[in-house]
Amino acid sequence: MTRPRWNERLAVAQASRARSDAQRRRRTVERVEGARVVVDGVPLVNFCSNDYLGLAGSLDAVSALQEAAAWHGVGSGGSALVSGHHSAHARFERDAAEWMGFDRALFFPSGYTANLAVLQALLEAGDLCVQDKLNHACLLDGARLAGAELKRYPHRDFGAALRQLQSMPEAAAVLASDSVFSMDGDLAPLRELALAASAEHALFMVDEAHGVGVLGPEGRGAAAAAGLSARDVPVLVAPLGKAFGGQGALVFGATALIEHLLQSARPYVFTTAALPALAAAMGTNLEALRTQGWRRAKLASLVARFRRGALRHGLPVLESNTPIQPVVLGGNSRALAVARVLEQHGFWVAPIRPPSVPDGKARLRITLTAAHAEAEVDALVEALAACLDGLDARP
Ligand SMILES: Cc1ncc(COP(=O)(O)O)c(C=O)c1O
Repeated sequence: MTRPRWNERLAVAQASRARSDAQRRRRTVERVEGARVVVDGVPLVNFCSNDYLGLAGSLDAVSALQEAAAWHGVGSGGSALVSGHHSAHARFERDAAEWMGFDRALFFPSGYTANLAVLQALLEAGDLCVQDKLNHACLLDGARLAGAELKRYPHRDFGAALRQLQSMPEAAAVLASDSVFSMDGDLAPLRELALAASAEHALFMVDEAHGVGVLGPEGRGAAAAAGLSARDVPVLVAPLGKAFGGQGALVFGATALIEHLLQSARPYVFTTAALPALAAAMGTNLEALRTQGWRRAKLASLVARFRRGALRHGLPVLESNTPIQPVVLGGNSRALAVARVLEQHGFWVAPIRPPSVPDGKARLRITLTAAHAEAEVDALVEALAACLDGLDARP
């Protein structure tokens, strides 16, 4: 037996990615003005950003960030339990908890770490974690990090979720779901899942990454839109890299739960606390998101406009009424080719390939934002229809 050589392993992985058109590359954004960006020197209209409400460039948030940086510096200086918890974090957590209707909120540096943290701190070996097959990678990774038994039910099948919970009646259990699925844009059946969790004494956890800000009264998300409260959803995670236009995440819960996370979640305890100025900027965007309902109204009207156009042209859009409007194209090379043509017409749309989506389901993940103009949405639909007609007409 000889030990495998690392350079050989890397070369094999690289060759496999190249063979299947799965190699990805980073694009460099040089300027941002709402949905207009300059990418690698080329001006484009951005249809692959998660800045759903157009708050990433909010001048109020930029000023809040600058002012807080002047007071707190450009780093927190330590982990939250040592010296990194600042007044800006405390204020943001308090305001956010009050807005969302929970006892407490805990601010994390990212949605990925927040989801890892919750599942790792709550679950242990022998426990059960039941999840939708299309949940975001970080929820799946969190269950694995905890060493719990992970069972994944077919997409949106709440009956299967109930049966999976019933299959281990003695185990402590968490039922976890995205509220809006990140690559499909459809909604989880949150009311039915909440009932299943409650009937089985499981803890229901919802990741509102793509729901918060966009859906529900005052942008409180899909769970609030479904009439669910903190009693029905005892753990709610709200990543801030999407409609909040920033970075980080809030975990909402009852005092006992948040205190438990704060004491024992390794991804919270063993990392430098997030930038205090970021908390200040996110607090400013929370106020905008709560009070500026016109942003949600404009976004909803652009989503409806895109769908009307796409359906009129017979484009292969998925069933979604959220700002995530996937156009499923199948093979990786087809998705890449269409994205390339759209870019020549001035539109930036990311081709999403495995492992982010299942094999053979590569797609354009088109996202709409309140920063788009109606004419831009119309022009995208026309360009996409012409491009797909052109591809299909090829011998
Ligand atoms: C559903 C979902 N949850 C969590 C995350 C992770 O959040 P973050 O980017 O803040 O790490 C994302 C996307 O990035 C997501 O789509």
